[in-house]
Formats: sequence, C-alpha cells, structure tokens
Amino acid sequence: MSQVTHVLRSQQFSVSCIEELFRRADAFSSVRRAEVYSRRIVFTVFYEPSTRTRFSFETAAVRLGAKVVSTENAREFSSAIKGETLEDTIRVLCGYKPDAIVLRHPEIGAAELAAQVSEESGVAIINAGDGAGQHPTQALLDLYTITREIGHIEWLGLTIVIGGDLARGRTVRSLAYLLSKIDPTVKLVFVSPMALCLGADMKRHLRERGIYFEETEEPTDALKKADVVYWTRVQRERMDGKDYAALSSELQARYTITAAHLELMKPTAILLHPLPRAGEIDPAVDKDPRAVYFRQAAYGVPLRMAILERVFEHKPLE
Ligand code: NCD
Repeated sequence: MSQVTHVLRSQQFSVSCIEELFRRADAFSSVRRAEVYSRRIVFTVFYEPSTRTRFSFETAAVRLGAKVVSTENAREFSSAIKGETLEDTIRVLCGYKPDAIVLRHPEIGAAELAAQVSEESGVAIINAGDGAGQHPTQALLDLYTITREIGHIEWLGLTIVIGGDLARGRTVRSLAYLLSKIDPTVKLVFVSPMALCLGADMKRHLRERGIYFEETEEPTDALKKADVVYWTRVQRERMDGKDYAALSSELQARYTITAAHLELMKPTAILLHPLPRAGEIDPAVDKDPRAVYFRQAAYGVPLRMAILERVFEHKPLE
C-alpha cells in the first residue's frame, strides 16, 4: 500500500474522504487566501492543452500559499521533444523535491507510471488527465457541483444523463466510476451516437457493481427524466479526421443542446459540462438558471485547494 497520497483514479476515494474534501472545499469557497503552505512547491506538467485544470490548480496552490513551477507546454518545451521518456522526466523532477506534480499526458496510464517512479521520493502525483483514461479531480469537481447545486450530499437515486463522447471522454469515465462507487442507486442514462458509445470495460464495471444504466442514441426522452445532465464535447483530437467528418453533421443536428431541449428538462434539473464546449451547447442556453457549467468551472479552485491541502497534510515537509 502506497504511503504517498497520489490522486490517480476517481474510484480511489472513499465516501468519507469525499465528504471531507467537500467540507474543506466549502470552507475554501468563502476565503480568498489561506496562505499556510508557503513552504510547499507544486509542479504543473501538462503535455496536453488545458485552460481550467491548469489555471484552477495553480490558483488553488497560490491561494494556499504554495509556490508553483510550471511549463506552458511540456510536450514542446520540455525534453520530451528531444526524446526523453516520461519516466526520466519524472525522476529528474522528483529530484528537485516538489511536494506534488500535477500531470496531464496523452497516454492512458501515464499518471500511474509517474506514481511508480515518484514513489521512492515521496512526491505525490495528481492525474490531471491521462489521454482517454481518467480525470479524477474533474470527477470530484463534477460531483461537488452536483452537491452544491442540488443542495445536499445525499444524491441517492438521481437520474444522471451523460451525453456526448462516451468512448473517449475521460471525464465521463471518471464520473461514472465515482458515481458507481458512492451511490449504488444512481440511474445512469448514456446518450450518444453508436460510434461514440461507452466502452465495454465501463459497461462491465457498472454491471459488476449492479448499477442501473441505459444507453440510447436519442436525447429527448433522456433529458425529460434527468435530474442532472452532463454533456461533453467530441474528443476530436483523439479520433481519425475522417471518422469525425462522417459524424459532424449528425452531431450538430441531434446532439446540440438548445433552448428547446431545456424546455423538456425538469425545472429542478441542472446542466453540467466539463468544458471546453465545441458547439454541443448553444450559448443561448447559458442564461437559463439550470445551466451551471460556468459555476462548475469556478468550483475548481476551492475543490482543488481541498485536494492540495490533503496531499500536503499527508506529506511531511522536507
Ligand atoms: C476536459 C479534459 O481535458 O478532459 N476538460 C477539462 O479538464 N475541464 C474535457 C475535454 O477536454 O473535453
């Protein structure tokens, strides 16, 4: 059992740990700065583009008083471009003794690999997205948004409609793992064209845990029964250009959430999106109070403050 508090997969968190993280995120929501970690150092190492995850992690670290060392684009501006392996890079970075490395990488399993390398040095690895694998801190943030917006932590029995690129969306995978862990009575409705449907491994996982789920290509009925709608973009960068071209007009016609779709939704339902959106939610929807995706993005700072605090508290100062 690892002594280091890595954050690698969403299902690693127990219910009590999630509740504690959410309590701390609530507390951080009302304080702008809590500079108690001035001796801590966080590296943010992103091999893929990011707006929300990197900025919110760096803001969270700064608000906690930690120092951030970063590269704008590790794919081009680190020695990866010279052929250095991820293992070597992580080994070298750990030698500089940060407290945590927030890592985003295009390969599934990259964070786990980095955690194996960093184990000896005690540096925590935080998975900020590993290809089409997982994005655990986003899933925590999504769940935090649901609890804040729905108003309580007992999510029991909610119908959660998850739509878009279910095949390659790492936020979808992490959220489905997390929900299946914390609420055995959750009802999941997956909406996508066949070409983007949920992977067999995820379906097997849900069946093994006895989680109720449906799959459909048609958004309309699903939206009517949703308590939460979680919509996502197509992971265009992870698919063949020809496959995307073949899908794009169907996506636009059938899977773009418009004001007419909001009419179908319950007055109490909420619409989430991890962002960025790439056409799949019409901006006309933004003014509907049920559209919570910009608040969802903002929750990223207090939630990631809670995550970093947990990592720091479990790691002795050098
Ligand atoms: C997501 C990601 O990078 O996986 N964005 C994010 O972190 N908020 C979703 C996406 O890129 O589609």
